[in-house]
Amino acid sequence: MLKGKTIVVGVTGGIAAYKSVILVSELKKQGANVHVVMTKNATEFVTPLTFETRSGNRCISDMFERNFEYDVKHISLAKAADLIIVAPATANFIAKAAHGIADDMLTTVILAAKCPKLVAPAMNTAMYENPATQDNLKKIQEYGFEVIEPNEGLLACGDEGKGKMPEPSELLEHILYALTEKDMQGLSVLVTAGPTQEAIDPVRYITNHSSGKMGYEIAHAAAMRGADVTLVSGPTALSVPLNVSRVDITSSADMYDAVVQRAPKTDMLFKAAAVADYTPADPADHKLKKSDDELSIPLTRTRDILAEVGANKKAGQIICGFAMETEDLLKNARAKLEKKNLDMICANSLRTEGAGFAGDTNVVTLITKDETIELGKLTKLETAHRILDKALEIRK
Ligand code: CTP
Repeated sequence: MLKGKTIVVGVTGGIAAYKSVILVSELKKQGANVHVVMTKNATEFVTPLTFETRSGNRCISDMFERNFEYDVKHISLAKAADLIIVAPATANFIAKAAHGIADDMLTTVILAAKCPKLVAPAMNTAMYENPATQDNLKKIQEYGFEVIEPNEGLLACGDEGKGKMPEPSELLEHILYALTEKDMQGLSVLVTAGPTQEAIDPVRYITNHSSGKMGYEIAHAAAMRGADVTLVSGPTALSVPLNVSRVDITSSADMYDAVVQRAPKTDMLFKAAAVADYTPADPADHKLKKSDDELSIPLTRTRDILAEVGANKKAGQIICGFAMETEDLLKNARAKLEKKNLDMICANSLRTEGAGFAGDTNVVTLITKDETIELGKLTKLETAHRILDKALEIRK
């Protein structure tokens, strides 16, 4: 995703500097051209050689070093950067950035750069909470910096509290979000994901193999593109994507309530959840004891949430369903599109290699009123972006 992008990673003097080595590796893996600029204090924690090895570029820490690639390095680096992230950012660095002080290479590059600038503060809780630091953080936000909130936990100094730098994977997410075009800004998006659990008794339930990955990636991609995203999720092991608000549900009845209540205020609805079609008619309120007899559990139909929102679709709203089939994929999926009054249905066959529940790839065919588009095998995130592209196109 970062192919062709130049990312400057600023490293200041904090113990979290070691985590930035992993961040640099991840950025490289994503195809970015990474330049690391260190403050003098940062070199006490991690050597420039470590960053040079990981980035494949010279690491800069000395403002007056003569052995450099570009002419006026701080200006050329500031111009070349598509994004700058300072991680970890000390209170001292933040104070300098808030006051336009440029007394080393990093602060000079920062002052000269016009690209998006991200700052990940990492310090002792008392330093972080100090009104001077808080004022400085407010100030740099006013200047257009994005401040990545530190996590809470056990700090290197032994104190517990706020001040831990987020993990490299979280920082990478902030970078990807910052570099993604915000073509869904102002849109309210509702996504459903995961399985439902239908109680038989307080101990057992009926469910399915849905991992929730496809729905989570749609929520992820829409949030990256600036939409206001709510994810109604059945039980999954997945973590909530950045800037997505998650509503946890268990049964199809819970999902019905969560979706039907929100649907009228939603511009786009993606129903990737694998909702149970049947639920135990009379779940026991105590644990059922086994006997020597066979057991039959009467099931009743659940309410079809997608059909309900399709029937009450408001003007301009885009509704997208999902169909996982084992036979007659396209025919069955198109029938669902029409029956449920959808704008699009994403069809995938459980029998196709690279598609299905647990994996990170999918093989989806997008079916709209007048098109059938085979996306081929893509990661679930890429598939999500293609689904959103189509939804935006239909909305025009
Ligand atoms: N869906 C729903 N509410 C239900 C059941 C399904 O909203 N009670 C939605 C799913 O989220 C998905 C689509 O409907 O977007 C799936 O269509 P559906 O016809 O229910 O497919 P299956 O459940 O697989 O049923 P069938 O046996 O008809 O293939």
